[in-house]
Amino acid sequence: MKKILMNAVHMSCVGDIAHGLWTHPRDQSERYTDSAYWVELAQALERGRFDNLFLADIIGANDVFEGRPDAALREAVQMPIDDPLLLVPLMAHATRHLGFGVTVNLTYEHPFPLARRFTTLDHLSRGRVAWNIVTGFLDSAARGMGLARQHGHDERYERAEDFMAAAYKLWEGSWEDDAVVRDRAHRVYTEPTRVHAIDHDGPYYRVQAAHLSEPSVQRTPVLFQAGASTRGLDFAARHAECVFVSGNKQQAREIVAKIRQRATAFGRNPQDLRFFLGVVVVVAPTDGLAQEKYAEYRLHASAQAGLAHFSSQTGIDFSRYDLDEPISLVKTDAVQSFLESVTTQSEKRWSVRKLLDQMTLGSRHTPIVGSPQRVADELESWVRDADIDGFNLVRTVVPEGFVDFVDLVVPELQSRGSYKTEYTEGSLRDKLFGAGPRLPARHPAGAYRVGAEPRNLA
Ligand SMILES: Cc1cc2nc3c(=O)[nH]c(=O)nc-3n(C[C@H](O)[C@H](O)[C@H](O)COP(=O)(O)O)c2cc1C
Repeated sequence: MKKILMNAVHMSCVGDIAHGLWTHPRDQSERYTDSAYWVELAQALERGRFDNLFLADIIGANDVFEGRPDAALREAVQMPIDDPLLLVPLMAHATRHLGFGVTVNLTYEHPFPLARRFTTLDHLSRGRVAWNIVTGFLDSAARGMGLARQHGHDERYERAEDFMAAAYKLWEGSWEDDAVVRDRAHRVYTEPTRVHAIDHDGPYYRVQAAHLSEPSVQRTPVLFQAGASTRGLDFAARHAECVFVSGNKQQAREIVAKIRQRATAFGRNPQDLRFFLGVVVVVAPTDGLAQEKYAEYRLHASAQAGLAHFSSQTGIDFSRYDLDEPISLVKTDAVQSFLESVTTQSEKRWSVRKLLDQMTLGSRHTPIVGSPQRVADELESWVRDADIDGFNLVRTVVPEGFVDFVDLVVPELQSRGSYKTEYTEGSLRDKLFGAGPRLPARHPAGAYRVGAEPRNLA
């Protein structure tokens, strides 16, 4: 069996995805403003040979439920929240191998300064940074940025295409590999003829300048993405190296096959992509003890907070629904696929009551609860049956849930040969793909490399 890849998911806030668990007496997520909290977490994950700490992020308040942010604020649903990019240097300094997958919503950024921020992090982490490319789904974010409302769903992806083209040119096409000569004797740090201003004149972004930073180990960070709509899947197939998928085994398998197949249409090798499924795990030495722990966690979870979050994700104010009213599909500019998962893409008829029943740990994930053997069996069956490569382990009680996984599940998987016992040396891209630190030349970004043959990227 292939080696299972593992990301831990957290956010720079108190209540991220498994809502309410911050109220558990052993939970420490209130320490998110303390640098030691992040260093301790990163070191624990590295001890468990995790591939990445994936930092999700959101710009804007979750204010769709009841038309105001009150429920989200009371329950700490992703607000207050700090900037995840700024956590990376702390943790990179205290670790050697762990990757950092950081979410940045490009809608409210410009390629010129953002490309420099990622290069800086790639320098400081010696090539261990990844970017989770998102385009946002909240009107509250748009209002914060001086717009009346967010751009339409598909337009966000059009903007993202243009953004990526400009960013690739800066990362891949501005500085030649040997531009920096550091020649003290001749007083030449950089050879000017080897640095090129890019000329990007796209529909949304214009960049006529050289990249400000010298090249980093990976140049382009490893690219994560979670597009689920038709337009989103296309974006993932073109750009993403690590893709987040959801659904049951059959659905996940179909999405994986579809994206791999679509990737070939963009000239990529389908094996240049890795797929991850979100999971919540409650593990203890025996099944009985795990069930006890799960029952105890449940006392602190908040399905109401989960519902407030799901309102923002879908763009539907569920406070207006009767408990047993069937949920129907309406067009919103939020995450269409999340609404489809409880309407057209589900055999079940969903209602608010059913959503609340499902959110036993404050999110829509069905937890895997049991002994290390049971959890390992379940994870291995997903890799086998859904053709995924690994998992996004969503937080429960932090850091306890992550540490339990490291101490109990990781050794079990290692003893079965389905999990690494040592890291591969090199950059994050080396560790994930084993083919060097740079994006493969056949990735669309390869066309922007200095000296690359012109290619039709349509
Ligand atoms: C595992 C996972 C993590 C995600 N993380 C974020 C995030 O941190 N911030 C964000 O704004 N959107 C996040 N999203 C939403 C995606 O960026 C995207 O909008 C969503 O998957 C739907 O894609 P679609 O717009 O193609 O329907 C995430 C989605 C998934 C499945």
